[in-house]
This record gives sequence, C-alpha cells and structure tokens, in this order.
Amino acid sequence: MPTSSEVFASVTVEQMRQRRGGKWTRYGDEVLPCFVADMDFPLAPPIHNALSEQAATDDYGYTMHFAERPIAEIFSAWAARRYNWQVDPARIEGLVDIVQGIYLTLQLYTKPGDSVVTLTPTYPPLWRSVANTDRRLIDCKMQMGADQYEIDFDKLADQLDSSTKLFLLCNPHNPTGRVFTQKELQGLAELVLQNDLIVLSDEIHADLVYAPNRHIPFASISPEIQQRTITMTSATKSFNIGGLRFAIAIFGSKALQDRFNTLPKGVIGGLNSMGAMASEIAWRDCDQWLDTLVSYLESNRNHLHQQIQQRFPNIKLCKPQATYLSWLDCQQLALNQEPYEHFLEAGKIAFGNGDDFGSGGDGFVRFNFATSQTTKYWIAWPLRCHRHRAYLTHKHK
Ligand SMILES: Cc1ncc(COP(=O)(O)O)c(C=O)c1O
Repeated sequence: MPTSSEVFASVTVEQMRQRRGGKWTRYGDEVLPCFVADMDFPLAPPIHNALSEQAATDDYGYTMHFAERPIAEIFSAWAARRYNWQVDPARIEGLVDIVQGIYLTLQLYTKPGDSVVTLTPTYPPLWRSVANTDRRLIDCKMQMGADQYEIDFDKLADQLDSSTKLFLLCNPHNPTGRVFTQKELQGLAELVLQNDLIVLSDEIHADLVYAPNRHIPFASISPEIQQRTITMTSATKSFNIGGLRFAIAIFGSKALQDRFNTLPKGVIGGLNSMGAMASEIAWRDCDQWLDTLVSYLESNRNHLHQQIQQRFPNIKLCKPQATYLSWLDCQQLALNQEPYEHFLEAGKIAFGNGDDFGSGGDGFVRFNFATSQTTKYWIAWPLRCHRHRAYLTHKHK
C-alpha cells in the first residue's frame, strides 16, 4: 500500500483532466488551473470508501436531520483534540456552506446602513457580501511586511464608529496566509469589546496551519469574546470535499443562537447526506491523513517560495503560515496588462485574480499550490510563458 505522501506525489495532470469539477473544466485543456481553493489530491481513504459505498448502493435518499446525526458531538471532540477548544455541541447548527452563513449573519445581526468591518485583501464573499446586503464596508487594509502581513491596529481603531456592528474575521487569513497570534487576536478582541461588535470568525483554513504557527479559535480568546462570536467552519477545505456543500456554525452564546433560529427552517435547506457523512468521517477518523497532508503542503510551500525567490526576484511574497495559497505581489513586473490576464494568456496558467480580494488586491495573484510535486507547476510556469523575461525585468529599470 502506498503511503499518503506517495499518493499525493503520484497525481498527474492527465488524471486531473478527467475530473469534472470547476477547477479542471473552467479554462479548458490548455490551461493549468491554480485558482479555486480545491486540491488535486485523492480523498482520505475512509471518506473515499464511505462515499463509494453510498454510490454503489444508490443510497441517495433523504438523510436524518442535523440534530439526529452525531456530527455536533464529533466536531466538538475534534475541536478539543486539535485546538484544545471546548465547544458545547448544543451550540452547533448546520449550514449548506459558509457563504450562506456569512449572508445570514449580515441579515440577522445587522441592519441596512450599518457598517461592517473586515481585514483586506480577503476572501471575496467576506467583503462583497457587505455591499450586496446594503451594509457599509469598512475595509482595513493589512500591510505586507518583510515576513508577513500585519494588521494596522491604530487605523482599525480609527475606522470603527458607533455604526459598526459586525466584524467579519478570516482566521487563519485567506489570501495572506496569516495565522494570527494570541497577541494579535487579543488586540482585535479589545477593539471588538470597546465597540460592542459581533464577530463572525471564518475558520475554514484552521486545519491547514504550518508549525510553529498554531490556530487559535477567536471564540477561545475569553468568555466575553465567546459570547459575541459565531465561528463558521467545515471539513470541505482540509478534506477536499467542497462540492459536497456542508458547513457548521458554532454560536458562542444561547442568545446568538436563538437569534439565528428565528430564521424559518426552510431558509437553510435540508442536509446533504454525502456532505454530512463525509464531514463526520473527516472529523472522527482522518487525523493522521490530515497531518500527512499538511506536511506535504508545507514542503510544496517551501519549494514554491524558494523557486519564486530565485527565479522571479521581482515578485514579492510572504511564506503563508496557513492555507495552500500563496499571495504573489506582481506590481513590480514589467507587464502591459493585469498579472492575472498576463499569466492566463501568455503562460496558460489560471491564478486567482487579486482584484477579487478587495482593497490591496490590485496587481496580485493567488497561487493554489495544493498539487503533486511531480506536476511541478512552478517549474512549468516560466517555460509556459512566452514573455517570461518580463518577470526578470524590474518595472522601474
Ligand atoms: C475563507 C473562506 N471561507 C469560506 C470558503 C468557502 O466556504 P463554503 O464553500 O463553505 O462556502 C472559502 C473557500 O475557499 C474560504 O477560503
């Protein structure tokens, strides 16, 4: 039996082209897709086997309700084991996905005209949802430092006012790859308490953290913070089952949960049987697979970082502390078009377009490196770009 690492390494582009998901079909056969946050790896064997069995028996009927499944207890044990975080299973509710949870939170806990704060650049729905629901966006732009992005706490404090009701936090942070430290989270917590904010902490990337960094759930910062925090997460990112649509919301207080449950039940929709089952198995039986995955991704991250520094000294990047996403600052490249368009046209490689990530995203691309080291996207990259000399020429020279 090959080890999980050998399985990750054995993935080929030809195999991937058989997949029917958005990642491998949107841009056609000539393009290497490195945009959407899906991985190229096979599933953890326990999830693969359970889903195959379900398919083999045509078992696609309605499943039990969320409260009748063991999922809340299973997640609670996972949170204690992985993050030393004590979660009351009674405070967990099911969602179709996190984006649904973001919109529902905006609708339920704020009013049109209220302002909502987030740290940018950020995952597109975290900033777009604000204008889409007629709320006012306060985007506090993070700054790229020598090694990592930094929160500008003074600016953030200045930007908040009595109209600010909600903080949309992404922890760990996509696309900068930041894992916020205890001190940073405490700094945010102080501002949250001073301004009487509710927090939605999107922790979908919590499992994909590279040592010595450590994920700290925002709700675990203090009992006062827990009371005003709704944490959203899912197994879909770490276990590569995004198409199965399933997520959870963890309410830090009964009052927050009661407000959520004023929603008519039909708004959330029923449970996806495969998504719920796969998430239960992920959180119960797949610790070791996940640990191997994270160390494989870490070596991809290190290799990519080294390659970009050596080959493209005019691209700036910070090593992500979490996520399999690298955020590349291409502003110094001598290009005549947006980097995203340039790489797509000249290199036939589809990155995430920096513009989609809100303020601070212009001139950037996001590179998904969750692929086999043998496909060597990062080696193929300059060879695929006819005008790759542009990367070696400094804009101002
Ligand atoms: C920060 C963040 N939140 C949420 C999602 C998507 O979650 P869902 O598919 O459950 O809506 C992603 C996907 O990349 C993400 O990066």
